[in-house]
Amino acid sequence: MTVAIKVPLLDLKAQHETMRDDIAAAMAEVVESQWFIMGPNVSALEEEIAQYAGVKHAIGCGSGSDALLLALMAIGVGHGDEVICPSYTFFATAGAIYRLGAKPVFVDIDPVTYNICIDSLKEKAKGCTSLKAIIPVHLYGQACDLTGVLEVAKEYDIPVIEDAAQAIGTKDENGTLVGSRGTMGCFSFFPSKNLGGYGDGGIVTTNDDELADLLRILRVHGSKPKYYHKYSGVNSRLDALQAAVLRVKLPYLESWHEARQRNAALYNELFTAEGATDSSSALSDGGFPLRTPKGVDGNSRHIYNQYCIRVPKECRDELRAHLTANDIGTEVYYPVPLHLQECFADLGCKEGELPHTELAALETLALPIYPELTEEQIRYVATTIIEFLKTQ
Ligand SMILES: Cc1ncc(COP(=O)(O)O)c(C=O)c1O
Repeated sequence: MTVAIKVPLLDLKAQHETMRDDIAAAMAEVVESQWFIMGPNVSALEEEIAQYAGVKHAIGCGSGSDALLLALMAIGVGHGDEVICPSYTFFATAGAIYRLGAKPVFVDIDPVTYNICIDSLKEKAKGCTSLKAIIPVHLYGQACDLTGVLEVAKEYDIPVIEDAAQAIGTKDENGTLVGSRGTMGCFSFFPSKNLGGYGDGGIVTTNDDELADLLRILRVHGSKPKYYHKYSGVNSRLDALQAAVLRVKLPYLESWHEARQRNAALYNELFTAEGATDSSSALSDGGFPLRTPKGVDGNSRHIYNQYCIRVPKECRDELRAHLTANDIGTEVYYPVPLHLQECFADLGCKEGELPHTELAALETLALPIYPELTEEQIRYVATTIIEFLKTQ
């Protein structure tokens, strides 16, 4: 009898099994101490992440979304300001801008990397009248063209806030870890991230001493000393229990990146053997109707928080349903670009405005890529996709 293979999009239990006792001990220590807010685990994690990311300061907070919010607050973004960001990203990138009364100015993506397109960025920046910052995103765990972004920011003399929520350990074209070249870097410890907590969590990185101090004040309601408020901040601290869990997990992070890269390489090999090419050619160029993620350039490092393929829009959702029927989990990151979201209707964006973004939203599909996947599971996913596409 053959045993049916199941491949969830993510299997957090598989990872937990490998460190169950250490996690339980770390959590028990926090519970015994009854020190739940800030404290030694949070400070130690902040130091460890600063060292890992190659920056002077890391400031823990409640989530990756809050990291973005705090970073924008720290540079004084408010009513009437404009902040440029991609439309092809998770909601929080633009949500943080909008929540502060500022206007997200959406730019298109480079269809090869799904990251911010520098030409689109230049064009949109020209049309702004009160541009305050740029938030590029290192989507799926692949670095954006940070050098290009920093050049534009320099021209306008504005800060760059790197949305590195999906990209802890990602390296840019210079081999530099993301979150260290921009004014600030924002990371998420959401459970599905390469370094995921057991709940929400986030951190802001910076090399700027004054910004670091301000971020530490803003995350505790803006008070320093306690009960004296020069600023109106928020309540957004990294939970001590989360910090304890993340400290157990951090030493494994490099090996998880490597496992994800190995998994990606096997998918690439299996799809390429059928004639698939990478995303540097469009599906409209013909050939086998699948595009793998573009390979790594120069000294960059993709940590594959997500492994997204492109397939023709006419069959993407049908393929997804077929995979679900075969016990294979997938996801579409993201089906509705932010410039077309209902809540941003007042910004007046129109369909067709960001063509590469809109096409990617219809063609991409994220496959299981988590470190604990077996070769058999990867082969099963690839074969199921290839067989489906051959019938199209
Ligand atoms: C690109 C991006 N930015 C921001 C966030 C927000 O992080 P969090 O879920 O920790 O609030 C996420 C999380 O999925 C993300 O993927």
